Formats: sequence, structure tokens, C-alpha cells
Amino acid sequence: MPRTIYLDNAAATPLDESVFVAMQPYLTSQYYNPSAQYAAARSVKKDLEAARAAVAHWFGSRPSEITFTAGGTEANNLVVHGVMRQYPEANVVVSEVEHDSVLNPAKHYSHKLLSVLPDGVVDLVALQGLIDDNTALVSIQYANNEVGTLQPIRKVTQIVAEIRKLRQKQGNSLPLYVHVDACQAPAYLDIHASSLGADFVVINASKIYGPKQTGALFCRGGVVLDSYILGGGQEHGLRSGTENIANAVGLAAALDLVQNRRHAEVTRIQGLQKLFFDEVQKKIPFIVINGSRKNRLPNNVHLTFPGQDNERLMMQLDELGILCAVGSACSASNEEPSHVLKAMGLSDGEAQSSLRFSMGFQTTEQDVRTTVDALTRIVG
Ligand SMILES: Cc1ncc(COP(=O)(O)O)c(C=O)c1O
Repeated sequence: MPRTIYLDNAAATPLDESVFVAMQPYLTSQYYNPSAQYAAARSVKKDLEAARAAVAHWFGSRPSEITFTAGGTEANNLVVHGVMRQYPEANVVVSEVEHDSVLNPAKHYSHKLLSVLPDGVVDLVALQGLIDDNTALVSIQYANNEVGTLQPIRKVTQIVAEIRKLRQKQGNSLPLYVHVDACQAPAYLDIHASSLGADFVVINASKIYGPKQTGALFCRGGVVLDSYILGGGQEHGLRSGTENIANAVGLAAALDLVQNRRHAEVTRIQGLQKLFFDEVQKKIPFIVINGSRKNRLPNNVHLTFPGQDNERLMMQLDELGILCAVGSACSASNEEPSHVLKAMGLSDGEAQSSLRFSMGFQTTEQDVRTTVDALTRIVG
């Protein structure tokens, strides 16, 4: 039986052994509630704060600016609701290609959708026109979970900073924040909050070889969020509930792992991505590559196979032990054609003929060659 070729790392990455080892004590012997008073509990509290400091290091932030959450979805909800509940008359600007955990909370408020160009990059000219005197939040992801497109966050935050300055001069006291969902980014990109210029940055552990239902929110010091998860006031009052120390430690270990390996891994995986694109174009000339080739996560290959049904293709690959994705696995129902591909101008038919292959630490050159050969046999 050939080994499984796992090409769905944008959906979930395996838990790295080193991360598991770091988490283990807090799942077994170190089970104390960090809010308790005795020495053993104070000791786990110290470990939790060490994990926070380790995460803060990669954001270039203060530990007090980091909140642990139960994943990217929860952190994105905390930001959108946390800002918009304070300013119910205001509006939020979100890109059309955001993850549902941003789009769906935004739909609870007055919201404006920022379009993307055919390569999936947000339209910066349109952004300037969309932000008005009542905009309190601009939410744009760092890297897309389906087509891997990287967004020009620095340019976004510069545009917003200019508008903010002008608004302040005019006496408009409504804040204007930038939120960046960076869940797909930490394995390949710098997440320093000051280089991004964002007020909120969200990551999760399940895309970086850490545990699921685990995330972190960078919230710039001094910025207030109105939390709806009320209780004992843990996590700066933003996310009440007994802390999940094992997962927080796991997130810190996973972030250390991917950020320390980042430069070498980007080079390695960019080579595999180029090989994938070159080989698949050579062997199946009618395929279409979706998303920007230049501004792209190095582990993402997203292809349309005109006239083919993507679910059938995915199942045929599955039978050969090759695991890939039809649209985004982050949504419980994949029945609708992808909103991301549609925003990029693909028809329903084209969207339903598209597959995502997302590579990871474990992907080898042989995996890429085997996958392209299998695709060639199936559709070629
Ligand atoms: C870009 C992006 N944002 C948010 C999420 C949601 O994160 P979680 O599954 O940790 O809630 C995901 C995927 O899971 C994602 O890819």
C-alpha cells in the first residue's frame, strides 16, 4: 500500500511530535487551574504566561497584547463583534474573499464588500472609495485559504492610516481599525504586528502543526474590544473560561517551530510549487491556474480542470491515496460554489471544476510527481 500523499495542509496540519511533547504535561500531571492560589497552580500560570510571551515574540508585541482563543473563528468573531457592538451605527469593510468566520459576523452589521481583482488581490482603489466617515473596521486577510493569494496588508494599513489622520483632523472621533486574519500565514510569512501596521491580527494553531480549536489574537495595546464571552474575566476579560494551558503551550511551540524553519521551508516549498505548476502545465495543458502566481503562499496550488467535476476528481485521487480539497474545508457545507472563486470572476461551472492542493512539511518532490502523474492519467 503506497503511503498517503496529504495535500490538504490548508485545512489541517498534523500535530508535530515536538508540539505534542510540549503539551503533554498539561494534559496529564499539570492539570491545575491557573487561577488557584497554591504553588502548583502558580507554576502552571507561569507556564501559561511564558507561552504568551513566546507568541508575543513573533508578533513583536507585548505579552499583554496577546489573547489565547479557541481557534481562528472565535478570534475573528471577537474582533468583528468586539468592535462593531461598540459602534452599532458604524460600518465594517470586508474583502469578498474573507473566511466565513469574518464574513458571517460582518453580516450582522452594516457592511461593505471590497472586491478583488481576477488574481484574487484586493482592489486598493476600491478600498479608498469604500471607507467612509462611519467605517470603524476594515478586515482583510493576510493570505487566502483557498487560492493562497497574499494581500498587500502594508498598503492597506497605510491607506487606512491616511484616512484616519484626515478624519481626526475633521474632528471625527470614530476609531478606524484594521483587522488581519493571518490564519494561513505563520508558516510562510512574517507576522510582526508593527510591520503589518494592523490593530488586530489572528492566527490559529491547526495550520501550523499545533492543536485544533486553538488560536491567538493580537490586539494592539489600548484598543478596547467589547467581549461577548463573559464569565470569570480570564484572558484580559476578552475570553472568559478556564485557560487551556496545554493548547496555549502547543500554539507557542508550533509558532516557534514554523517561524524558526520559515526561511528554509519557503525556499524548499517554493521549489515544489514551481515543479507542480510546471509539470501540470506540461502534462495537462488545458488546466487553469487560479490566483496570483507572484503574490501567493508557496504551499498552494489551485487548479481548474475545465469540464471536469471536482468532487469526482477528488474522489478518484482519494482512491489513489492522494488527499486534496474541493473548495474550503473550513465550511461545514461545500455544496455552494466557492465564494472566493466567484469573487475572482470564475463561473459556477469553473468553480466546480477546481481543486486545491496545499503542501506542508511532509510533502516531497516524489509526492508532487506522483500527484501530477495521477491527475494526468485521470483527466489527461
Ligand atoms: C483564513 C482562515 N481564517 C479562519 C479560519 C478558522 O480557523 P479555526 O478553524 O481555527 O476556527 C481558517 C481555517 O480554519 C482559515 O483558513
